[in-house]
Order: sequence, then structure tokens, then C-alpha cells
Amino acid sequence: MTKTSGSLLSILILSLTVSFAAAAAEPVTPKLTEKLDRLLREEMRSIQSAMGQIHSAIVMGQHGIVANHAEQIHDSFILQQKLTEQDREDLMSTVPKGFIDLDKEFHQLSASLAEAGRGKNTNEQLRLFTEMTGNCVQCHSTYVSDRFPGVSAPE
Ligand code: HEC
Repeated sequence: MTKTSGSLLSILILSLTVSFAAAAAEPVTPKLTEKLDRLLREEMRSIQSAMGQIHSAIVMGQHGIVANHAEQIHDSFILQQKLTEQDREDLMSTVPKGFIDLDKEFHQLSASLAEAGRGKNTNEQLRLFTEMTGNCVQCHSTYVSDRFPGVSAPE
């Protein structure tokens, strides 16, 4: 094999490895403590309900409702609430950094959405809502594949 095709091959193998790692991280759910599992599910259900209300409010121009529910999502930030020092350590030692980053990003987006609600900016609300939905799909496809095998990773 020539030198060039050898390095091309290693680039190919490297990129395959990278994309595989990105698409199929180990699911985090089996490793959660019972308490973290319960808290996460509670948080997820309240996020889901808030997202539904926000969706309706965006299409009806009810800006105050968009702002309130986006605030509510922001306040439910699992890393900032309800967690004892021990829970926090359990979480940090269980989930990969990518998970924490996605959660942080998601909650930052909810703060921006609240802002767009207060600013009565429908286009911005729509853009952020879509971006947040992308985060749900990305986190579930990457880290919750055991519970949601049907969600495929976004492009
Ligand atoms: C940073 C990762 C992450 C993001 C972002 C995320 N989720 Fe989840 N979601 C999880 C995990 C982990 C579980 C599984 C929790 C468990 O089983 O303990 C879950 C479970 C759920 C469940 C099932 C809850 C139950 O009762 O079992 C719903 C509904 C849900 N998510 C909705 C959403 C919605 C809607 C969004 C976006 C608006 C979202 N999630 C964003 C990580 C995430």
C-alpha cells in the first residue's frame, strides 16, 4: 500500500470511529440512582407539558404565556435545584460531559425563549422552540437510546 492511501485509510477509519462515537454513546439511564431517575423523569414530564403549552401560545400570539412557561422550564433546571451535594456528585460521575453540556444549552435556550416571549417576537420564539426540540431529539438519541430506540440522531 502506498503512503498516501495508507493515511487516507486511517483518516477514513478515524472519521468512522468519531461518527460512531457521536451517534451511539452508552445510555445513561441504567446508571442513574433511583432518586436521580425519579427527578429526571419528573423534570422531563414538566418540560414536555410546558413545551406543549408554549407551542399553542406561539401560534396564538400569547406572548406572556410563552414567557411564563419558558421561565418554568428554565427554573426546573435539574442541576440547579433539588439536588443535594451527594446527588450532584452521583450525577456528575454517571453522565458524560456531553450530556451536561446539552442540558445546560437546553436551559440557556429556555431563558432566551422567555426573553423572546417578553419581547413579543414570534419569529424568534419559533426559531428557539425548534432549536429546543432539536436538543430533545439529540439528547434522547445519543444518551437515552435504551428507552427511545426509535429516535434517530439528527443530521
Ligand atoms: C440533556 C438530555 C435531555 C434533554 C435535552 C431532553 N431530555 Fe427528555 N429525557 C432525558 C433522559 C435521560 C430521560 C430518561 C429519564 C429516566 O428514565 O430516568 C428522558 C425522558 C423523557 C421523557 C419520559 C419521561 C418519563 O416519564 O419517563 C419525556 C416525555 C421527555 N424526556 C421529554 C423531553 C422533551 C420534550 C425534551 C425537549 C423539550 C427533552 N426531553 C429534552 C434526557 C433529556
